[in-house]
Amino acid sequence: MTPTNESANSAPQKKRIFSAIQPSGTITLGNYLGALQNWIKLQDDYECIFALADLHTITVRQDPATFRKNTIEAYALLLACGIDPEKSPFFIQSQVHTHAELAWILNCYTQFGELSRMTQFKDKSQKHADNINVGLFAYPSLMAADILLYQADMVPVGADQKQHLELARNIAERFNNAYSPTFTVPDPYIAQSGARIMSLQDPTRKMSKSDENPNGWIAMLDKPDDIMKKFKRAVTDSEGGVYVAEGKDGINNLIGIYCCVTGKTAEQVADEFQGKGYGEFKTAVGEAVIETLRPIQERFDDLMKNKDYLTKCYTESAQKALYLSTKTLRKVMKKIGFLPKEF
Ligand code: TRP
Repeated sequence: MTPTNESANSAPQKKRIFSAIQPSGTITLGNYLGALQNWIKLQDDYECIFALADLHTITVRQDPATFRKNTIEAYALLLACGIDPEKSPFFIQSQVHTHAELAWILNCYTQFGELSRMTQFKDKSQKHADNINVGLFAYPSLMAADILLYQADMVPVGADQKQHLELARNIAERFNNAYSPTFTVPDPYIAQSGARIMSLQDPTRKMSKSDENPNGWIAMLDKPDDIMKKFKRAVTDSEGGVYVAEGKDGINNLIGIYCCVTGKTAEQVADEFQGKGYGEFKTAVGEAVIETLRPIQERFDDLMKNKDYLTKCYTESAQKALYLSTKTLRKVMKKIGFLPKEF
């Protein structure tokens, strides 16, 4: 039997979910609608643990001041989106030392060949040909450590992280088989809602802040005027109808965004805009997104004025995370044969 989370009482234990996001700069509307909105919803039905994966971020060179700023802003933004650290510890990975420690150990249970096959490694080493560092290569075993330290039952991941989760499962099984059941083998969590949000300029590609054309993506903190401009410039087609169909990538994407922020179905949207032009539709999408982001932006501004509160949230979360993860790390080290610490 795989170990499960200990229950403090006899009530059925909620399943545990772990997820993390890198504080590597602007968080986009794509991140929000594709992942974060879902994290917020999961908090009620699962025992969630969330992290900012800042150790992962340094696999690409960072300017120290910018990195610090991005980290605190990402933290505040996620709280503004609705992560409640009272319910779900939300910590900063570099502040919980067990992550780096287990990652080293797992490196020794991960094969060079496995890591060489990771498509993200191949892509990133092409993109950063001048800095193909060992961290970039070993990034998936750090990610496995993040997940396995908390005995997570499930991990919500997008398509780009599926291969890494698969590897985490393999590492967990390998370790459990070599010693005895130690790690919960995590399943992917597939969200019922949420969408893959595409670039507004090239709707065949995922919305990404690394897109050179800033009109392709909406940042969570973009000003209303800029948001509206970007939607008005969004690439569509020459056919003219607002409905989902193959080949209408731009319109399909805008409909997807509109559905996510209004809760409407694609059919309702097609009805609403029957006989209406793209101009009118784009304005409606822009307005709906602006109204969705407005309260988040307001909360973000308030939180950034309250650094003591932010510090309290990430510190208390790190303490909880350290407590939980230390239990796993101790077990692992004992099984491997490290001498116990006597201090
Ligand atoms: N690698 C993930 C990304 O870049 C972030 C991440 C780090 C993560 N550790 C994780 C995601 C553990 C899920 C579980 O998006």
